[in-house]
Amino acid sequence: MKLAQVPAACGIHCRPYGRGDRSAVRGILHSTGFLGEELAGKGLFEDKRLFALVNTEGYLRFQPSFCFVAVDDADGTVAGYIIGTGDSRRYEKTFRRRMYWRIAVRCFLVSWWRHPESFRHVLAWARAYSDSAEAFFDGYPAHLHINVLPTCQRRGIGELLIRTFEATLRDAGVAGVHLITSNRNSKALPFYAKLGYDVLAQKPGTFWQGVEGHVAIVFGKRL
Ligand SMILES: CC(C)(COP(=O)(O)OP(=O)(O)OC[C@H]1O[C@@H](n2cnc3c(N)ncnc32)[C@H](O)[C@@H]1OP(=O)(O)O)[C@@H](O)C(=O)NCCC(=O)NCCS
Repeated sequence: MKLAQVPAACGIHCRPYGRGDRSAVRGILHSTGFLGEELAGKGLFEDKRLFALVNTEGYLRFQPSFCFVAVDDADGTVAGYIIGTGDSRRYEKTFRRRMYWRIAVRCFLVSWWRHPESFRHVLAWARAYSDSAEAFFDGYPAHLHINVLPTCQRRGIGELLIRTFEATLRDAGVAGVHLITSNRNSKALPFYAKLGYDVLAQKPGTFWQGVEGHVAIVFGKRL
C-alpha cells in the first residue's frame, strides 16, 4: 500500500520526517516518554537531549525512510511521530557503533553534573541493553516507537501513523513488526490490541526497569 492510499485522520496528514522536525520530535518524546506520560518535572530524566539521543536520534539520523510525522493541516504543527526500522538486528549494530559514543560524550560533558538522575538512568540502561527483544527478530524483524502529543490523542493520529509505517514495511517486503511497551501504559495496550498486535512476551528490564510495577510487554504483528 502506498503512502497516499493510507486513510487520513481528520485535519491531519502524515509525511516523511524532515530535519526541521527534530525539536518537535524531541518535545513530543519528553511530554509522552514515561510509560506514555509527561517526563518533565518528575525528577526522573530531565536531560531532554540525552533522552532523545537514547530514544529517537538513532532512527532520525540512520533510518529516516522509516520515520514519519503527523502534521496539523491548519498550522503545520507536528502532532505526533512514528520512528523505527525494517531490520532490528542491523539497527542494533548501527546504534552501538554510531550512537554509543554520542551518548557517552553528552554524559561526560553535561549530564553527569547537570542532570545526575539522567546519567544514573543511562548507566543502568546501558548495563541492561543486551536484554533486547532479539528472540523476535526473525519473525518480526521491524520495530517501532510511536508518540502523539497529549492534546492530540484519540483523534485517529496514532492509527494513521501506524498504517503509514506498516505500508512502508510492506512495500519494503518486511514480514513482521514488533515493539516494546509497558503493562502500566494504559493508552498503548488497547491501542495496539485494536490495531491487530498480539502479545508475544512479557519480561523485566528495558528502559524503565526498577519503576514500581513495570513489566515490559512485547507486541508483534505479521504483515
Ligand atoms: C498510544 C498512542 C500512540 C495512541 O495514539 P492516538 O492517536 O491517541 O490513538 P488513535 O486515536 O489513533 O486510537 C486508535 C484506537 O486505539 C484505541 N485507543 C487509543 N488510545 C486509547 C486509550 N487512551 N484508551 C483506550 N483505547 C485507546 C481505541 O480503540 C482507538 O479507536 P477509537 O478512538 O475509535 O476508540 C498515544 O496515546 C500516545 O502517544 N501515548 C503516549 C506515548 C505512548 O505511550 N506511546 C506508545 C509507547 S509503546
